[in-house]
Amino acid sequence: MPRPVGANVSVADPTLFEHTRDQLRALCAGNGFTDDTRPVTLLRELLGPAGGRPLSAGPAWPTDVADDATPVEFSVALDDSGDRAVRILGETVGQPPGAAENVAAARRFLDRTSATLGIPTERFDTLADLFLPEEPQGTFAFWYSLIFRPDGAAKLKVYFNPAVRGPERAPELVAEAFRRLGLHDAYDTATQNAMVRGDADTFSFFAVDLDDDPLSRVKLYISHDAATSDDAERAAKAVVGVEPERIREFCEVLGGDTGPFTGRPLVSSYSFVEAAPDGPANYSLYLPVRSYVHDDAVARERVRTFLERHGADASTLDAALRAVSRRPLADGVGLLAHVSLRLGRYGTGTTVYLSSEAYDVPAPGTAL
Ligand code: TRP
Repeated sequence: MPRPVGANVSVADPTLFEHTRDQLRALCAGNGFTDDTRPVTLLRELLGPAGGRPLSAGPAWPTDVADDATPVEFSVALDDSGDRAVRILGETVGQPPGAAENVAAARRFLDRTSATLGIPTERFDTLADLFLPEEPQGTFAFWYSLIFRPDGAAKLKVYFNPAVRGPERAPELVAEAFRRLGLHDAYDTATQNAMVRGDADTFSFFAVDLDDDPLSRVKLYISHDAATSDDAERAAKAVVGVEPERIREFCEVLGGDTGPFTGRPLVSSYSFVEAAPDGPANYSLYLPVRSYVHDDAVARERVRTFLERHGADASTLDAALRAVSRRPLADGVGLLAHVSLRLGRYGTGTTVYLSSEAYDVPAPGTAL
């Protein structure tokens, strides 16, 4: 695979860890972190032995975290309050890699990290036997999100695959997961509002924050094939106080129109928190912007427009893009992978998802 011109131009053939570490450090520096020791250490541990492979050796495992099989994806969450978080979505790849081996390696990472950081694992323990069968099916079984704030503790979120026992069993797994977590109305609320188009709406992720905070989230993600802004607006109505016009504007600005979005699907998520047991506290819409632009210069322009309209500091976006890649934005597509809009009582904001491009940069006009 061609080597992209990225943050490591000066190093002949960096390892995956070195490549992603430099990106992470630059992201932290640009977002007010005075110390990046913990993020860097956790990145190294999350990657495990796969992090030591030179990029020229190619990906160790065909992970779906990113299009080019880099096992991490960065994101910067811009809260409307002005707060920011730098996050890493990642899959731990076992040695040797394999569906079951990756899960075993991810569980070791969780054991070690929860002990070091004092992170409670009850929610993981409650769900593990449901979502982590001996022979996982589908594109993944166990992903993490590491969430860092400039002066806060590191947080951990785990993602499970509802289709890990086959797509036909996904509804049963999601219902059972909510039941075990004591969220008795969540399944009905989610399906009645966001699963109304037959096979076109599918469960894609079930995620839990691993912490004791009353605002820690249980999240259900639903993918909407060929959906329009109207479909997302309808899904968002399950959350009290969400203004549907914001969703329409988000689709128009980031996606170019109101759909139908027939490339990569729009994704909805509902967040349930203990502090608000009566219904979902937040709704988020994820738009895979790379599917709807010719190149990253166009994607950047759209994100800037959206941020500026909402009074956010658009220079943060350019700093984040430069932290991850120095290539001319018009030379590729997919550096800006998704953009999400978060709405609801417990924090609104915009998040940009940035590809590491460790292994590949799709040519302009070629994103799927
Ligand atoms: N790469 C996968 C996809 O694009 C999974 C993924 C990574 C994803 N980051 C995401 C999905 C953000 C939705 C939102 O589907």
